[in-house]
Amino acid sequence: MSRFTQLTTQLSAALLTGMMSMLAAAATPEQLLDGYRNQAGRAPQAAQGQTFFLTQHGGQWSCASCHGSRPSDEGKHASTGKLIRPLAPAANAQRFTDPQKVEKWFKRNCKDVLERECTAAEKADVLAWLLTVQP
Ligand code: HEC
Repeated sequence: MSRFTQLTTQLSAALLTGMMSMLAAAATPEQLLDGYRNQAGRAPQAAQGQTFFLTQHGGQWSCASCHGSRPSDEGKHASTGKLIRPLAPAANAQRFTDPQKVEKWFKRNCKDVLERECTAAEKADVLAWLLTVQP
């Protein structure tokens, strides 16, 4: 490889990494929903997402145990009692805009509620429902 080719390759790799971190840093809830929809391979079902969110899945907690049954309102952590800002994007513009944060908390919270990670279809359904919730 010539010095020039090497440099160009390094430069494009750096550019690509920069672009990817920009993409990772910001997204809209609709973009995240599209991603989950593609992974799931089916249309999201908001009504199913609501049921999923409100019911227990064999364990002590549902999603609503901490986020409340009206996610346009503040929630309260089921064990620490700490306030949790609203989960519905219409009530909290920061929600579902940081893909890494979203994935981190889906992973943690799904394990707490279901003792496994949520599937892409479950994430799509919950997010589709949250997007319908108005303050
Ligand atoms: C034991 C309490 C608890 C339970 C149960 C819980 N969560 Fe959470 N959740 C939190 C906390 C704490 C945060 C992080 C603090 C914050 O973002 O306000 C969070 C954040 C999130 C986020 C991050 C969203 C964003 O963009 O900021 C998502 C998504 C989420 N939870 C989904 C769920 C889903 C789906 C369930 C049910 C499977 C669930 N949570 C159950 C406590 C809980």
